[in-house]
Amino acid sequence: MGKQVNLGFLGCGNIGGGVWHLLDEMHDEILRRDGLDLRVKRALVKSIPEARTDVPAAILTERAEDVLDDPEIAIVCEFMGGEQPAARFMQAALEKGKTVVTANKMALALQWHALRAAAEKTGAGLYHEASVGGVIPVIRTLAISLEADRIHRVMGIVNGTTNYILTRMTQEGSGYAETLADAQRLGLAEPDPTADVEGYDAAYKLSILSSLAFHTHVPYAKIYREGISAVTAEDIACGRDMGYVLKLLAIGKRDGDEIEVRVHPTFLPETHPLAKVDGSLNAIHLHGDYCQDMMLQGRGAGDKPTASAICGDIVFAALHLDNPTVPSFPNTAEADPSLTFTDDWQSRYLVRMSAQDTPGVLAKVAAVLAEEKISIASVQQKGVRDGRAPVALITHETSERAMRRAVERLQGDHVRVESVIRVEGM
Ligand code: HSE
Repeated sequence: MGKQVNLGFLGCGNIGGGVWHLLDEMHDEILRRDGLDLRVKRALVKSIPEARTDVPAAILTERAEDVLDDPEIAIVCEFMGGEQPAARFMQAALEKGKTVVTANKMALALQWHALRAAAEKTGAGLYHEASVGGVIPVIRTLAISLEADRIHRVMGIVNGTTNYILTRMTQEGSGYAETLADAQRLGLAEPDPTADVEGYDAAYKLSILSSLAFHTHVPYAKIYREGISAVTAEDIACGRDMGYVLKLLAIGKRDGDEIEVRVHPTFLPETHPLAKVDGSLNAIHLHGDYCQDMMLQGRGAGDKPTASAICGDIVFAALHLDNPTVPSFPNTAEADPSLTFTDDWQSRYLVRMSAQDTPGVLAKVAAVLAEEKISIASVQQKGVRDGRAPVALITHETSERAMRRAVERLQGDHVRVESVIRVEGM
């Protein structure tokens, strides 16, 4: 017996297929544990003849209306990805009072306000545990478990592709282009890797994470973004020599009414818990007044881990059809006007330079930094080749703008600034 809840799928590729299999495998157990008889009634695909799926052909459709307009479908599960038409379909489902489950970070980050508004209008649920960190239960942790705390910092490795590439570059000393090509050959990076390697995917996820952590909508447009495509083997080796590991981090900090949100390659001390998160794993490190430091780690992608998170949402949604949980902040298109977003954050920096091997060059570097009120924490110079010396220095905490000004002033014949990489986690 049990309560029959009908599901409709929008999209039925890898993720949809994974969800189908898990629901099928767990059907009787979910019925026993939760009293729910979950059934997939329709599944939207682009083309039925070309559909490569184990979902029975009888429930496949090429018409979104067959899912969106079916009054018997209570929960719509969106697996199409991309902003449109996924967001439009989800909005239509919510406006009809159907609960939506999605893993679509891009649609959520870019259309948060429209989707939430539609859900609020009809009292429908909108669940998206798999949108950040795959199976890692970070959405529920922020929205429910830590609801009574004040979170000041989220710092995450939220993109598995870039973590895989950086891990291999670190372990093998290889360059970016060859490592990316190999990851693509192995099917671990997309043929068009832009969304991952340029940090877009991580920025969508940071918009979602920081909105929940800071209880205000943090629009995607406020996020500073820098990917890993300019990272070199020399950068990674230099950081390593000084005790640091390079990660692409999504960082959100809130200090009173000031918020900073940024995605960029970041050096972490090798003892930091995030520095040990290797390969395609994801992890999110949080700091709050009462929870203090905590970290969640797990598989951020892949059909099985993603299906686990999505099916968890489906069961939760089916159990709470009449009283869905919603994040506790007003749904606005912009952030709360009392908040400011800064692009002049405080950070430490690892600056890698090539300096002419003549007297006084380092003194000039030190003088420019001193004039910009940047204090040096350590310096390393290793040998001299062709009259130039590779110099690396780490600063104490300083302002982003001061650092940018200093780099502009340093760049010249005597000194070539090869890279400037932010350092966190001290
Ligand atoms: N492409 C993402 C990653 C997974 O590499 O982590 C989906 O967001």
